[in-house]
Amino acid sequence: MTRKDLIVGNWKMNASHLEAIQMVQKLSYRLDHGDYDRVEVVVAPPFTSLRSVQTVIEADRLRIVLGAQNAHWEESGAFTGEVSAPMLAKLSVRHVIVGHSERRQGLGETDEMVARKARAIVEAGMNPIVCVGETLEQREGGEAENVVVSQVIGSLARLGPEAVASSSVAYEPIWAIGTGRTALPDDAGTMAGVIRETVSNKVSTEAAESVRLLYGGSVNAANIKDFMAKGDVDGALVGGASLDPDSFAAIVRYWV
Ligand code: 13P
Repeated sequence: MTRKDLIVGNWKMNASHLEAIQMVQKLSYRLDHGDYDRVEVVVAPPFTSLRSVQTVIEADRLRIVLGAQNAHWEESGAFTGEVSAPMLAKLSVRHVIVGHSERRQGLGETDEMVARKARAIVEAGMNPIVCVGETLEQREGGEAENVVVSQVIGSLARLGPEAVASSSVAYEPIWAIGTGRTALPDDAGTMAGVIRETVSNKVSTEAAESVRLLYGGSVNAANIKDFMAKGDVDGALVGGASLDPDSFAAIVRYWV
């Protein structure tokens, strides 16, 4: 089973739709067909840029794939400020990030909420990217693996084996996000192995073979290769460095 590399730029709350158009165009100039054959390249801008970026991708027939950063679990209704999975699917969004630590910690998102969102995303025909990761305190207390295993089980709880197979799980240790401090590639590789084993035990061996596991946390052009060298790491979820098309393109072309 070969899993295609998946490299996702999580733009977080950055860039207007006009800037987003320029960023995507610049990124496309720096990538060629060989790169896309090897790596699924995803950008996840804020909701306000999705339609503009979709239009550029379609007009210029780019092979960049559109992602989103969140979705509500209900299809529609009285949920002021929320965006539903079917709305995103209509914009040709293929991957949706759920359970990012910035939402778990800052906005009280629980495993149960993440599980409901992941299910809604699958029902709308898209793939969830489920984020998990421990705090520094939990790592120093020797709790990292327990915390991550419990997040993986709780967050995937509402998906069947086929849905898990086409999903991704991003291991993002909270202390490595935006800090310039990364996990050691060995630790990221070990945690990816733990996540794959958890999926194998709790979902199915087939799902474990297919689910793509990403590392996230201060990934840049200089360190990406060390993470990608780990057998269970299939890609990366990139924050800050994805905002600069030159550095994001260099991350995508990690083998060069
Ligand atoms: P940084 O790459 O800026 O550390 O962010 C990582 C992240 O949170 C991606 O989702």
